[in-house]
Amino acid sequence: MTPQFAPVEPFDLVIFGGTGDLAMRKLLPALLHRFNDGQMPPGSRVIAVARDHGFSSVQYRERVQQALSGTGDRAGLEGFLPLLDFHALDVTSAEGWQSFAQEVQRVGERVRVFYLATSPDIFVPICEGLHSHGLAAGQSRVVIEKPIGRDLASAARINDAVGRFFSEQQTYRIDHYLGKETVQNLTALRFGNALFEPLWNAAHIDHVQITVAETVGVESRGPYYDKSGALRDMVQNHLLQLLCLVAMEPPAAFSADAIRDEKLKVLRALKPIDASNAAQLTVRGQYRAGAANGQSAPGYAEELGHTSDTETFVAIKAEVANWRWADVPFYLRTGKRMPERLSEIVVTFRSVPHSIFEPSAGPLQSNKLVLRLQPDEGVKFWLMNKVPGPGGMRLRHVAMDMSFAETFNVRHVDAYERLLGDVVRGNPMLFMRRDEVEAGWRWADQILAAWADSHESPKPYTAGSWGPSAAVALIERDGRTWNDDAG
Ligand code: BG6
Repeated sequence: MTPQFAPVEPFDLVIFGGTGDLAMRKLLPALLHRFNDGQMPPGSRVIAVARDHGFSSVQYRERVQQALSGTGDRAGLEGFLPLLDFHALDVTSAEGWQSFAQEVQRVGERVRVFYLATSPDIFVPICEGLHSHGLAAGQSRVVIEKPIGRDLASAARINDAVGRFFSEQQTYRIDHYLGKETVQNLTALRFGNALFEPLWNAAHIDHVQITVAETVGVESRGPYYDKSGALRDMVQNHLLQLLCLVAMEPPAAFSADAIRDEKLKVLRALKPIDASNAAQLTVRGQYRAGAANGQSAPGYAEELGHTSDTETFVAIKAEVANWRWADVPFYLRTGKRMPERLSEIVVTFRSVPHSIFEPSAGPLQSNKLVLRLQPDEGVKFWLMNKVPGPGGMRLRHVAMDMSFAETFNVRHVDAYERLLGDVVRGNPMLFMRRDEVEAGWRWADQILAAWADSHESPKPYTAGSWGPSAAVALIERDGRTWNDDAG
C-alpha cells in the first residue's frame, strides 16, 4: 500500500543542537525519509545550528552522511545532503545572530520551523534571538522537546518564556509517543468502530495496564537522566498521554483542540497521589548489575560513576476519578534494563457474570484488547474460543491478531517523521498544549514530593528483570497480574 501525502511548499527547518544525538539519531533520518517520499520540495533547507565554530557545511554533511549511511538508500542520501547547511552560533552571545538571520532570510517568507533540540536552559536566549531578529513572525513555528521543566513551576517558567516570543499556535511541544502508529490507531479503534465505545467504562472494563519497558540503561545520558528519573522522563509525559487517549471522552471532532480539551479533562480527573497514599500506590526501583540482551550489564550507579537515589523504574496504580472510570485501576509501569523492549496498552474487560460451562471446558479468561506500540506494532483482541474438533466443549483463550506490518504492508514510519511533517503542515493535533503539560506536572509533583518526604531509596532490581518485587505485589494484591509474556 502506498502512503498518501499532501504536498507541501518549500520550507526551512532550523535545528538548534544540530550536531547532537537527537538530530543525528532521529531528526535527520526522519527528514531523509521525508525527502525520499518527495515531501521536501526543491528549495527546502535544513540549517543545523551549534556552537562548533570552525566547522563547515561540508564537514557537517560528511558527519550526517556517516550517521545515515545505515539507512541503505545511497541515491536518496546523495540528493538529501545538499539541502543541509551548518551555521555556527553561540546563542547566548549577542554576536553572530545578525549573520544567522541574514542567512535564514536569504529566501523570502515561507514556513520556518525552529526545532530546539537543546537543553531547556537555552530555550529563552534562542527564542529571544529569533524574535529580536525578526524570525519569530509570519509562518514561523517553534518545536520544543521534553523535558519541559522538572516540575510545574519550572514548566510554567519555560512556557512563559517561550510564550513571550511565540504564540501558543506557533508552539509545538513534542511528545514523540503521540506520533507512534498504534497510539493514533487507538483513536481510530475507539471512535471509528461502534463496538468498543458502549463497553468502554467501569461497568465493563476491569482494569488497564500501560507498560513501556526498555532494555537499554541510561548509558551516556546519565548526567541528564540522574536529575530526572523515570517519573519525569517517561510517566509525566509519554505514559500520561497514553492514559489520556484510553480514558478520554469522545471528542466532538477530530480536531486538535477538541482532542486536547478531552485529554486535559482526564489529567485533571487523575486522583491525587500524595504522602497519604504514595507508599501503597507507587513503586520506585533502580537497576543493579545483571544481564540485558544476553550480556552482562552494569548497575545504574556503575554506569553513572556514583551512587544515586534516582529511580530507573516506576510502577503506579493510578485512577481517573470520574463517572466513566470510577474504581478502575490504571496500572502504569516503565523501566530501563527490563527483559525486553515492549510498549503496550492492555485493556482487560470484566469476566462473564456466570459460566454455563462444565469445569472440564477449562477456565474462562477475560477478554483483553492489547495495543502493541513496539516492537511489532499491532492490535490483538483476546477471546474465548472452542478448541476445534470432537471431544466435547473445550475452551481456549486465543487472540485475533492484527499485525500492522502484515495487514497494511507499509514501511514503518518513525514517530519523528510524522511529527516533523505535521509541524511543517501546521497541524498541532499530536503535540501537547501548555495546559496539558502543566496538568501532568500538577499530578506528578505530588508524587515527587511524597517520595522526597519519605526519604526512601528506590528498591533495587536486577538488570534484565521486570522491576522490584514490590511492583509485582502492587498489582497482585488486587488479584491481577502484569501482562508479561501473555502476548
Ligand atoms: C525519551 C526518554 O523521551 O523516550 C528516553 O527521554 C527513552 O529515556 C525514550 O529511552 C524512549 O522512546 P522510544 O520511542 O524508544 O520508546
